[in-house]
Amino acid sequence: MTHQVRAVVARGKGAPVSLETIIVPDPGPGEALVKIEACGVCHTDLHYREGGINDDFPFLLGHEAAGVVESVGEGVTDVAPGDFVILNWRAVCGQCRACLRGRPQYCFNTHNAKQKMTLTDGTELSPALGIGAFAEKTLVAVGQCTKVDRAASAAAAGLLGCGVMAGIGAAINTGNVGRGDSVAVIGCGGVGDAAIAGARLAGAATVIAVDIDDRKLETAKKVGATHTVNSKQGDPVEAIRELTGGFGADVVIEAVGRPETYKQAFYARDLAGTVVLVGVPTPEMKLELPLLDVFGRGGALKSSWYGDCLPSRDFPMLIDLYLQGRLDLDAFVTETIALDEVEKAFERMHGGDVLRSVVVF
Ligand code: APR
Ligand code: ZN
Ligand code: ZN
Repeated sequence: MTHQVRAVVARGKGAPVSLETIIVPDPGPGEALVKIEACGVCHTDLHYREGGINDDFPFLLGHEAAGVVESVGEGVTDVAPGDFVILNWRAVCGQCRACLRGRPQYCFNTHNAKQKMTLTDGTELSPALGIGAFAEKTLVAVGQCTKVDRAASAAAAGLLGCGVMAGIGAAINTGNVGRGDSVAVIGCGGVGDAAIAGARLAGAATVIAVDIDDRKLETAKKVGATHTVNSKQGDPVEAIRELTGGFGADVVIEAVGRPETYKQAFYARDLAGTVVLVGVPTPEMKLELPLLDVFGRGGALKSSWYGDCLPSRDFPMLIDLYLQGRLDLDAFVTETIALDEVEKAFERMHGGDVLRSVVVF
């Protein structure tokens, strides 16, 4: 059997997305069919539309989603119909060298559904990040489904599937922020703000938000920043040092993805401190640093991939903290929109006044 559902498709480089009918097959072994309840609009969806990821058009966009498992393939026992799940784009394999060493969060062989979803004329779709959740239903690998408490709002929960998890994980997993630490976050979009919330959750005493846009700094305060620095109005490295007794922060999280902000992060940390790069650079960017400073300042320079998250470990835990009122995921949902408003949400992204637009079904 197959399912005909409405979905948001990017047909060609730079062309506006369109609402189309797509065909979703019934799940085979190792697969699950998920009825989507909410899916956030992420910059990566726009990158796909612009041809910035690869040329495998048409793309089925959407990947920050939560929904309910409708059916599962033969032999599937990990999830069952009726389970409320958050989708992830790193279903771990259990067999690669990382998994075998007990570090599945670094799995080097993650997977997606084997069967293809198609347009009505049979053209195969490429689902964004192997998910494709701007669709009433989508087909994923079972390992891409993580069951969480049904009491959570789908719009808020789905955001853990990508950008918000990346930010929280950059702080709590990669940066290993601990009680009493000082933390600075450079770039306060959805990812940076999530890093701020993560740092607070981990017990950071000082959380400094840095951005070039005062509106972003206002939102950063709402999610937990204790201090703000507008780096257009002065040297952010000096400002961060001043706010940390002259030394620099224990952990500096770079959530922009540019060499100049990475350098700020590098010099704004205390000796033996940690830099976490969670912003994603473009291929032509180069970094130049005095090697003696890299050596002399000690500490750790790390990058954070999807917040080094392990969905089965992190999603249920973060949803529980959210339900206890200790992590305000609702603060990341700026607006809820309809499925046919994704293109409008892309336009609003440039305006800078939205953390996340979330499609609610
Ligand atoms: N200094 C400080 N902040 C900056 C600078 C700069 N030079 N340039 C841009 N910013 C701020 C913007 O004002 C904005 O608030 O960085 C923020 C970026 O936020 P978004 O564009 O909303 O991006 P976000 O979704 O948070 O992702 C940030 O992480 O996952 C990656 O690909 C993603 O590289 C991107 C980064
Ligand atoms: Zn693996
Ligand atoms: Zn994303």
